[in-house]
Amino acid sequence: MAKTETRLTAATADRHWLYERAVQNPDAEVEFFDHVFAAEYGRKPGFLREDFSGTTYLGYKWAARRPDNTVLAVDLDGPTLAWGRRVHGEPLGEAASRVTMVEADVRDVQAPKCDVLAATNFSWWGFHTHESLRRYFENCLESLRDEGVLVLDIYGGPEAQVPQFEEKECEGFTYIWDQDEFNPITHAYRCKIHFRFPDGSEMLNAFEYDWRLWTIPEVRRLLLEAGFRKSEVYWEGADEDGEPDGEFDVSEVGDSSPAWVAYIVAYR
Ligand SMILES: C[S@@+](CC[C@H](N)C(=O)[O-])C[C@H]1O[C@@H](n2cnc3c(N)ncnc32)[C@H](O)[C@@H]1O
Repeated sequence: MAKTETRLTAATADRHWLYERAVQNPDAEVEFFDHVFAAEYGRKPGFLREDFSGTTYLGYKWAARRPDNTVLAVDLDGPTLAWGRRVHGEPLGEAASRVTMVEADVRDVQAPKCDVLAATNFSWWGFHTHESLRRYFENCLESLRDEGVLVLDIYGGPEAQVPQFEEKECEGFTYIWDQDEFNPITHAYRCKIHFRFPDGSEMLNAFEYDWRLWTIPEVRRLLLEAGFRKSEVYWEGADEDGEPDGEFDVSEVGDSSPAWVAYIVAYR
């Protein structure tokens, strides 16, 4: 009975709560940031800037990870930042005081300078042209300390260009990734997130993205043009069944998976 009462429905569920459970994996990402920074500079980073931070789920994990870790979270959307402050910040106590939120366009913030600047879940795909993406990268470079890294995630493979729905069962709900439209001429890419619940109710268009599907070679070229010293690609390994294993290593040779996720790391 209690189980039925707590069942999620479209009317009772919160879209940020659903998104975080379905999409984000901040524990793995903070681990990854430590790894890439230490591999280059031989020490742990302290100051993370999270661009397009949304609820700042990742940023609060970073603050909680070490007592001297600090965070600058930047997002345009005040209510989403406020949601994160209430849900993640308030229960965190002292560590939350080391997270500063700024409601602004990521291109308008350059200070204070950080060790790691992260733009995850492909949010930087909101920049559609080479000029606008280069300008964003120039701003990232300007925002990094002398020893600093920019971490971007990216996905691709032939399936990324196919209009399709992809469903994933999560605890208490179904996550639906909707690749709604892809224009092969401009690479304009419209995607949506919907959620479905055990009672059959649906939360349609919970999130919508007007993106440009970028490729790794284009992005690496723009990073160099923006002034980054070098970039590396961290490609995901595979387990014995050939399934992605969640372990990312530097590589110049990917495999031709129908769909892949990778990280591009750029060094100041
Ligand atoms: C896909 S969510 C990313 C949430 C979270 N960082 C994650 O990894 O899942 C995209 C966020 O980017 C924000 N955003 C989009 N364009 C922006 C810009 N130019 N400057 C700052 N925030 C922006 C939106 O308000 C939204 O919260």
